[in-house]
Amino acid sequence: MHIRDTLDGYGLISRLFHWFMAVAIVAMFALGLWMVGLDYYSPYYNSAPDIHRSVGMVLLFALVVRLIWRMVNSKPSDAELSPLERKASFAVHWGFYLLLFALLISGYLISTADGAPVSVFGWFDVPAITKLPGLETPAGNIHRILAYAVIVLAAIHAIAALKHHIIDRSEILTRMWSGPKSSSRTLEKGNQQ
Ligand code: HEM
Ligand code: HEM
Repeated sequence: MHIRDTLDGYGLISRLFHWFMAVAIVAMFALGLWMVGLDYYSPYYNSAPDIHRSVGMVLLFALVVRLIWRMVNSKPSDAELSPLERKASFAVHWGFYLLLFALLISGYLISTADGAPVSVFGWFDVPAITKLPGLETPAGNIHRILAYAVIVLAAIHAIAALKHHIIDRSEILTRMWSGPKSSSRTLEKGNQQ
């Protein structure tokens, strides 16, 4: 089993990051929409936002580590894609990184606008770097728009992955699900695509 990515597909670490984050992001979207509708007397009025913020900070950390991991690994080959598909895949993958980063930071800014830190499951606090009362509302509006944008991009991305799998019968989805074959080729760092 490959731990690192190879030319033929994603290793265990990238696959765990991808699927853990995909599930968590969709769950966070549903949790966010549900929690903003809770009234003061709901037993989840405090705990739901606490969980949302805590998972969000774990995702921010995971995003940074995932990006570093991606940069120090071989890039699985996209030779089987057409030039247009290659451009679209590049735009979608980097679009995800940018949108997710902005989404997570906007969530952090809503939560810390009053100068309070974000508690991560009560284990530790992430301190506020700004104290800008009034920032909650614009940051909240941006957060909502970015959350919808991430979900729309994820839907397009999932449809494209399923199209490659079902119609084109390519290995694109398999290599993100079960990884590259054990005889896979690797690229040395410094000789990357
Ligand atoms: C994948 C990451 C995230 C997703 C998909 C997400 C999604 C959402 C959604 C859909 C809402 C409801 C917006 C509305 O209808 O007004 C929301 C609200 C909220 N989110 Fe997130 N969020 C994420 C990360 C975070 C993070 C990292 C934090 C803070 C550390 C955070 C803090 C908040 C807060 C405080 C609200 C309530 C805003 C309000 O009361 O208007 N979120 N989020
Ligand atoms: C919110 C959900 C999702 C996010 C944020 C996401 C993000 C990404 C990103 C950033 C990549 C680039 C590789 C990397 O950096 O690790 C990627 C690759 C991939 N994703 Fe997703 N993804 C999501 C959901 C899905 C779903 C639901 C599917 C399948 C139905 C899927 C299938 C794939 C496949 C097959 C690849 C590899 C593409 C290639 O080899 O060029 N993803 N995803």
